[in-house]
Amino acid sequence: MAISVNHQVQPEKWLIAPHVIRLETSIIREILKISSQPGVISFAGGLPAPELFPLEDLKRICGEVIEKYGPAGFQYALSRGVPVFVKLLAERATVSGCPTEPENVLVTAGAQQAIELVARAFIDPGDYVIVENPTYVGALQAFNYYQARYVPIEMDKEGMRVEQVETSIRKYNPKLIYTVSNFQNPTGITMSEERRQALVDVAVKYNIPLVDDNPYREIRFAGTPATQLKAIGGDAVIELHTFSKTVAPGLRIGWINGPKPILSQFEKVKQCTDLHTNSFSQYVIYEFVKQGLMDPQIEKIKANYLEKRNTMLHSLEKYFPAGVTWTNPEGGLFLWLELPKGISAKEMLPRAIERGVAYVYGSPFFAGGGGENTMRLGFSNPSVSDIVEGVKRLGTLLKEKV
Ligand SMILES: Cc1ncc(COP(=O)(O)O)c(C=O)c1O
Repeated sequence: MAISVNHQVQPEKWLIAPHVIRLETSIIREILKISSQPGVISFAGGLPAPELFPLEDLKRICGEVIEKYGPAGFQYALSRGVPVFVKLLAERATVSGCPTEPENVLVTAGAQQAIELVARAFIDPGDYVIVENPTYVGALQAFNYYQARYVPIEMDKEGMRVEQVETSIRKYNPKLIYTVSNFQNPTGITMSEERRQALVDVAVKYNIPLVDDNPYREIRFAGTPATQLKAIGGDAVIELHTFSKTVAPGLRIGWINGPKPILSQFEKVKQCTDLHTNSFSQYVIYEFVKQGLMDPQIEKIKANYLEKRNTMLHSLEKYFPAGVTWTNPEGGLFLWLELPKGISAKEMLPRAIERGVAYVYGSPFFAGGGGENTMRLGFSNPSVSDIVEGVKRLGTLLKEKV
């Protein structure tokens, strides 16, 4: 006879670690939940355009992977990644200007896991991390878990104000410098060439790892390509990559390109986390790249996002009141807006959702506080016609406020 003891169980009293209780759920994920109501046009996510997922190719390749690699696609695999895939990643990085060997590579479950591994490997409670202000909120969440403290560095249109970095290093002795150098999330800003060189110089001078979270580099639809920090800094730079923005985020494949001794440390950490990254997904992306599908895929994405960015810029000009400014990104997924001082983008969000449009307010991206009058608009996911309509709805609301 089964005995039910359920009435005695009180999981709410179990002793969850205090630093986990203190963690906040991702604000973006919360906003995504609210904004996925029917009728709401959402600029909130950093979601790729679903119409660009290469579904037919992926369908065919999934079958081919099963035929070609058999059980290997479903077996436990090496923590570093499936060797043929690792080799391919190293070759592609080398061709892109960053000499890389397979021993420099660790395949991860997206760039988010790569950030997490970096945080786990480097951060003890109370350690300082230099970040851009604002910066990617998912990185702050990962660093927060390990109880990092922040040295937020101001940004302007050339990216992080690198001249502030050296004094900050002297003062706080940080463990890491974290940057999103290309088409930054959330601002869409790309670091200038001079700043890149200066940032590498300062990282090398003080021997502090420079983490370049680089998910958007390939999605450049205007302007001239920037030199990669990794190409300038070599082993001074830990570069994080992902296939989420080029193939599909659901496959959860990213990778780290870093110095060999550090990669061995990451490998141990990776083993504690999940043993290894999904082998089937690695074979699928391997075949996708090998079959020459990657470059045409990126071209399709660039054309689509360029049109969407242009539509958003034109609509902002047309429907937004004076006093609001925005960035003009040459790639990536996001545009960043500053509203007149005194308007809180957070307070305005419920009203915007009532009017059928959603965005992410900017304050959570600021490790140093502030940014109440800022917001991020993602242009990759909505259709062109929804971009026009959504910006119109938001502009109408804003005109009532200014
Ligand atoms: C700067 C940055 N890093 C990392 C990620 C996470 O990407 P992934 O899907 O590869 O985990 C994102 C996703 O939006 C991002 O913008």
